[in-house]
Amino acid sequence: MAATAKGKWFDRIVLIIFENTNYTDAIANSYLKEITTRPNGVLLSEYYAVEHPSEPNYIAQIAGSTYGILDDENYDIDDETLVDLLEKKGVSWKCYMEDYRKLYARKHNPFFSFTPITKNATRCAKVVNANRLDDDIKNNQVPQLVYYVPNQNNNAHDTNISYASAWFKNWLEPKLKMTSFTHKTLFFTVFDESANDNDTVNHIYASLLGDPVTKDNYHNDTTHYTHYSFLRTVEDNWDLGSLNRNDSSATPFSLYLNEQH
Ligand SMILES: *[C@@H]1O[C@H](CO)[C@@H](O)[C@H](O)[C@H]1NC(C)=O
Ligand SMILES: *[C@@H]1O[C@H](CO)[C@@H](O)[C@H](O)[C@H]1NC(C)=O
Ligand SMILES: *[C@@H]1O[C@H](CO)[C@@H](O)[C@H](O)[C@H]1NC(C)=O
Ligand SMILES: *[C@@H]1O[C@H](CO)[C@@H](O)[C@H](O)[C@H]1NC(C)=O
Ligand SMILES: *[C@@H]1O[C@H](CO)[C@@H](O)[C@H](O)[C@H]1NC(C)=O
Ligand SMILES: *[C@@H]1O[C@H](CO)[C@@H](O)[C@H](O)[C@H]1NC(C)=O
Repeated sequence: MAATAKGKWFDRIVLIIFENTNYTDAIANSYLKEITTRPNGVLLSEYYAVEHPSEPNYIAQIAGSTYGILDDENYDIDDETLVDLLEKKGVSWKCYMEDYRKLYARKHNPFFSFTPITKNATRCAKVVNANRLDDDIKNNQVPQLVYYVPNQNNNAHDTNISYASAWFKNWLEPKLKMTSFTHKTLFFTVFDESANDNDTVNHIYASLLGDPVTKDNYHNDTTHYTHYSFLRTVEDNWDLGSLNRNDSSATPFSLYLNEQH
């Protein structure tokens, strides 16, 4: 399925989410810093996670609320998510999980915390092992919303930021050369939360990269953003409407994105 629904700023968004690192430690990493300094890169230097530990942050990104969750347990929430909004407008999506059900953690798969997804086989089939991505790229079948979760080593959870960034560079750089994949695609790189659960500030690294970014000088976007801003960006891009939760008051990442004509 080639991209179909035309977006305001982009026709595809690829979210890649890393783990448990604060802003200071992430921006000190040379690769994570370097991608923000490219002409088509943006550093979102005031981006904040919404909670500790991991799981509520993932849930917030696709549902606009943490539902008061303060742990990494399994939940079965009967509520609409971004998936419902996307499907109503015919925007395709998939969640790519590395080493699905091996070096995999359910707490890092927010889609399976919602029964409108888990009780629907068609939707469950869109949560796939990440090794499918290469074929989807080759066959020009990458959906318009890609939620990419690296495994527990590659996401820094069981390793560290040097390991994760080395993996990320190897993953991302060849893909940036695949023009059918990168065409009108926005890459959004983010962490779930800072490492220390006592850190209530929860300042984390986030960046944008790709065609939709205004080609210009160094972009340091100091707008206050949170995980709800990701949701809001996707909603505004495809005119999806709102879940009417914390997405309503969130700001989209539009400062350095070109509107498509
Ligand atoms: C970031 O985390 C490091 C430990 O990895 C810690 O030393 C540092 O104080 C933290 N910075 C902030 C601003 O929380
Ligand atoms: C299951 O999901 C599909 C789309 O993925 C949707 O068309 C269908 O209406 C859903 N079924 C139910 C019972 O919600
Ligand atoms: C980072 O993790 C890798 C693999 O787990 C390890 O080899 C390396 O020594 C670690 N580096 C630091 C600075 O801890
Ligand atoms: C977090 O705070 C608790 C209670 O004050 C303390 O016991 C714990 O050691 C702190 N953890 C870290 C990582 O600072
Ligand atoms: C981004 O801009 C803010 C405000 O001017 C500044 O304090 C911060 O150092 C900048 N960060 C980077 C990495 O350029
Ligand atoms: C917004 O998120 C907070 C937690 O971050 C949650 O307590 C609250 O219920 C959410 N608000 C709405 C309207 O969903």
